[in-house]
Amino acid sequence: MHRIQSVGVLGCGLMGSGIAQVCLRAGLTTVVRELSDDLAAAGRARIESSFEQAVRRGKLDAAGRDQALTGLRTCVDVEPLAQCDLVIEAIVEDLEEKRKTFVAVDAVAKKTAIFASNTSSLTLTQLAMATSRPERLIGLHFFNPVPVMRLVEVVRTLATDDKVVACAQAFVRSLDKEAILCGDNSGFIVNRLLVPYLLDAIRAFENGVGTVEDIDRGMQLGCAHPMGPFTLLDFVGLDTVFYIANIMFDEYRERRFAPPPLLKQMVQAGRLGRKSGRGFYDYNA
Ligand code: 3HC
Repeated sequence: MHRIQSVGVLGCGLMGSGIAQVCLRAGLTTVVRELSDDLAAAGRARIESSFEQAVRRGKLDAAGRDQALTGLRTCVDVEPLAQCDLVIEAIVEDLEEKRKTFVAVDAVAKKTAIFASNTSSLTLTQLAMATSRPERLIGLHFFNPVPVMRLVEVVRTLATDDKVVACAQAFVRSLDKEAILCGDNSGFIVNRLLVPYLLDAIRAFENGVGTVEDIDRGMQLGCAHPMGPFTLLDFVGLDTVFYIANIMFDEYRERRFAPPPLLKQMVQAGRLGRKSGRGFYDYNA
């Protein structure tokens, strides 16, 4: 199995731009696809600004930044993805949108290209079967913030070729990250444990067990978590957690995955966490 030298990244939001950054830092040609010229320009700006921040913090020198950015291409059409060895999808967490996107890329990608999805909760089999190459589709689940978090979950389906799994694991190592291998179960390993924990924190608060601040302090100081559950909920985005929990509840029909009413109300009220300026904490203050 050949080494991955060029990567396509579909979607340049929070996760897509982070994935593109780590690929560029690893010296890979990285083709980022967005839905419009404006979104592609905004994606490029997000990547450039993160590299700037790395230079300011002394983690990268100006030459390293310039070198990494020479590998960056952006596009709106799928054709520039034709030469990529690996295409990683990081678009909106919507099954139909993901399926449509893979079908479009499948039509132009070279036969040997591997397809990966960064989905956090959808199962991969339903994406793999929409393509002409189910044996070459895997999950590569990165964590936020991508440049910092060392883990990538490599998810295989019943159809995935062993060589594709080995190639994906080598790719993750080439990004200086660590891979763990997961079966194709909604939430994989980390979200299967993390999501019920976050939902339980909300239930504890709803039941008057403690304040938001005290529950956060409890897990930070008592268990050495870098962030308490409410800070983490705001960081990940309450809409994202709500969406993931619903998908997992649909899949498993277990109460622990059911989003509590307060989470739903906060999403309906637009309190989405850091991204909207207010969640369990107020970021405008
Ligand atoms: N990009 C690049 N580097 C970043 C960064 C970013 N967005 N955010 C923080 N960093 C770096 C900083 O440069 C700093 O590096 P240094 O120590 O070498 O100088 C380091 O991370 C620590 O940053 P700060 O000092 O600014 O802040 P903190 O010490 O509070 O750390 C944090 C921030 C790394 C986000 C830490 O709080 C943390 O690890 N939180 C938990 C994050 C987590 O659990 N993520 C998983 C979410 S779940 C998920 O993604 C799955 C999905 O499917 C839901």
